[in-house]
Amino acid sequence: MNDLMEIIKGRKSVRTYNGEQLSNEHRKLLEEYMKGITNPFDIPVEFVLLDAKEHELSSPVLSGEQLYVAGKVDKKPYADVAFGFAFEKLVLYAWSLGIGTVWIGGTMKREVFEKAAALKAGEMMPCVSPLGYPAPKRSLKETMMRKGIGADNRMPADRLFFHENWGSPLTPDGDMTDAMEMVRLSPSAVNKQPWRIILKDGIYHFYEKKDKGYVSESTGDLQKIDVGIALCHFTMCLEEQGKQYAVSVSDPGIDIPQDAEYIASVRIL
Ligand SMILES: Cc1cc2nc3c(=O)[nH]c(=O)nc-3n(C[C@H](O)[C@H](O)[C@H](O)COP(=O)(O)O)c2cc1C
Repeated sequence: MNDLMEIIKGRKSVRTYNGEQLSNEHRKLLEEYMKGITNPFDIPVEFVLLDAKEHELSSPVLSGEQLYVAGKVDKKPYADVAFGFAFEKLVLYAWSLGIGTVWIGGTMKREVFEKAAALKAGEMMPCVSPLGYPAPKRSLKETMMRKGIGADNRMPADRLFFHENWGSPLTPDGDMTDAMEMVRLSPSAVNKQPWRIILKDGIYHFYEKKDKGYVSESTGDLQKIDVGIALCHFTMCLEEQGKQYAVSVSDPGIDIPQDAEYIASVRIL
């Protein structure tokens, strides 16, 4: 993917589509790309393309969409983080081709999508997204929705990234400024931005700062999906910079607030 940072900076959720089918070329490229998506947790995420008309799929926040992608994953620890990481790779690749997406975890008739995606016992389908070309102008309902959520805002870095201890702001320097900025710009459910990073002894530890109401049997923890998205942006940026890194799950035991949870660590090699 060329110009990862431009793609991340430019991406916005698209809820208003122009009604056209994806070109055959674009569909093939997406299908190829999906097959090769991996994640650091080695938990397979399966993608299924679903024709909106054939399966009578819709969402009250969308218009003009013709095609959806659903993601499925076995229910197990870290399935939600792995899902976030893998699905975001697809979201960014789609955007690099001029194809719009929006993560949908809530505003849909879940049973209809789960049936269309042939979800099996033991699996979950936390989110879906339309795949299509953005309409020239956002619908009024989309514009209102973005305003309501404050979708264009992100928290400042000093509330998200810490040095040694939770709460003491980190001043990123050099190349890492970009990697942290890519995390900051990540999309998240209801734009809550629940990711936090503590840099300690050269290792970037990722945490989830939890809000209430984001966990369910059918989605897992949506805010863990958000942290998976942040990890995806961070590690893709390291790759673009030609850096080697290792992702591990090994809690460093730093004191954190009660409503926070350790997720994973990234060490740059
Ligand atoms: C896990 C997840 C679930 C989401 N679920 C929905 C949803 O159900 N409906 C919706 O309209 N947007 C949903 N969104 C999109 C967010 O509202 C959006 O990413 C956020 O407001 C930031 O806006 P942006 O993507 O344009 O940067 C979801 C995003 C994530 C990451």
